[in-house]
Amino acid sequence: MKFFLDTASLEEIKHIHSIGILDGVTTNPSIIASNKKSFKEVISEICKITNGPVSAEVLTTEYDSMLKEAHTLSEIAENVVIKVPLIMDGIKLVSELTKRKIKTNVTLCFSSSQALLAAKVGATYISPFIGRIDDTGYNGLELIKDIKTIYTNYNFKTEILAASIRHPMHIKEVSLIGADVATLPYAVILNLVKHPLTDIGLEKFIEDSKKIIP
Ligand code: G3P
Repeated sequence: MKFFLDTASLEEIKHIHSIGILDGVTTNPSIIASNKKSFKEVISEICKITNGPVSAEVLTTEYDSMLKEAHTLSEIAENVVIKVPLIMDGIKLVSELTKRKIKTNVTLCFSSSQALLAAKVGATYISPFIGRIDDTGYNGLELIKDIKTIYTNYNFKTEILAASIRHPMHIKEVSLIGADVATLPYAVILNLVKHPLTDIGLEKFIEDSKKIIP
């Protein structure tokens, strides 16, 4: 499974990259707005840290304006992936960008029929938001399972990018289902390594190592 980092923090991206587990980065307008630099500057700096796909989202919602934005964003760096909202103009945009061989990430996916549309027009990634579905009292993982089944049935090449991940159990579950990618907040990546028995065991080994005769 590929790990993307869901952030625009250069420090967080550099840290996860330095560990060797960063496969790419996703951003969205809310994440970009939390950064003091310009949109273009932030994406350009992220693309200097990683060669992996970096998702940058269009900020308009009409086909012509989104197409212009897509071209401007894709000129920032070769690894920019155009993130497109799951609306009909967005689907039309992905259809056109696929013809132009520009990679896309279709975002704000909350149903399997939306995911089917994205795959039909050749989206590179589909981003189902599992945490936000869980927040409404439904099970976000069911959506990942359904999309996996549909994509397997028809051999769609679109990769399932599990988004809106809230905790390590989400990672365990989406990897069991077979999602291709998970985009993770920094804190969740850091939590993946934690287990109390590891800490207790390590403490004992460190203590006992002091008694070893060299
Ligand atoms: O970037 C898309 C997605 O991962 C957002 O997650 O936590 O805002 O629901 P969240």
